[in-house]
Amino acid sequence: RGDRALTQDLAGRHVVISAGGTREPLDPVRYLGNRSSGKQGYALARTAVARGARVTLVAGNTELPDPAGVDVVHVGTALQLREAVLKAAADADAVVMAAAVADFRPTVYATGKIKKRDGQEPDPVTLVRNPDILAEISSERARPGQLVVGFAAETDEVLANGRAKLARKGCDLLVVNEVGEHRAFGSAENEAVILATDGTETPVPYGPKEDLAETVWDLVVPRLAENRR
Ligand code: CTP
Ligand code: CA
Repeated sequence: RGDRALTQDLAGRHVVISAGGTREPLDPVRYLGNRSSGKQGYALARTAVARGARVTLVAGNTELPDPAGVDVVHVGTALQLREAVLKAAADADAVVMAAAVADFRPTVYATGKIKKRDGQEPDPVTLVRNPDILAEISSERARPGQLVVGFAAETDEVLANGRAKLARKGCDLLVVNEVGEHRAFGSAENEAVILATDGTETPVPYGPKEDLAETVWDLVVPRLAENRR
């Protein structure tokens, strides 16, 4: 890992990373959220800085401190995350979507706290789809040759679902995790297979999230060089 940092192979590059989970408010005191810790996205930000990149980190909910040397934009909802990512992506060489973006948000936001009413059952919560940010930045690249990386956490048919998702999203690389007891969410370790549009599959053995982050950059760097020609 030290060797990779010494190469400074992301010098002169601007990379945008999203991390953490979004929160979709129901009323001023409640939200729908998810278990993302933000650790993988923060590891991507730290390793990119070490390799010389200018880094913008769009952070949803996380307890982690802002990493040194990184431009951090804190957001709450999926719609806010979309705005911040699109803005930062305008001049980015690579965009990595490590955030756990809520697929749905409550149809209505109650401006006052939802109260119990005597003898009455609560109203059901109805949901609407959030925009797919990864699909959007993949299909409308802000710059020619911009590299887009997605993440996918799957519980079943991990590789088959991952390949289908890579094709559906239109990104260049997809990091596919199998989620389970001690993996991915909240943990400092991760194990994954990184799928590329050129058909290559790079397995990353169980280990620190930094190792997976370094492997993502190892795959991004040559592809950026290729695109610039
Ligand atoms: N993603 C996104 N916008 C969304 C949902 C997901 O940009 N509204 C991104 C995530 O940041 C991640 C990738 O898409 O990089 C895959 O997320 P995932 O939840 O695995 O995929 P979905 O298309 O939402 O499919 P699923 O129904 O399996 O949740
Ligand atoms: Ca999803």
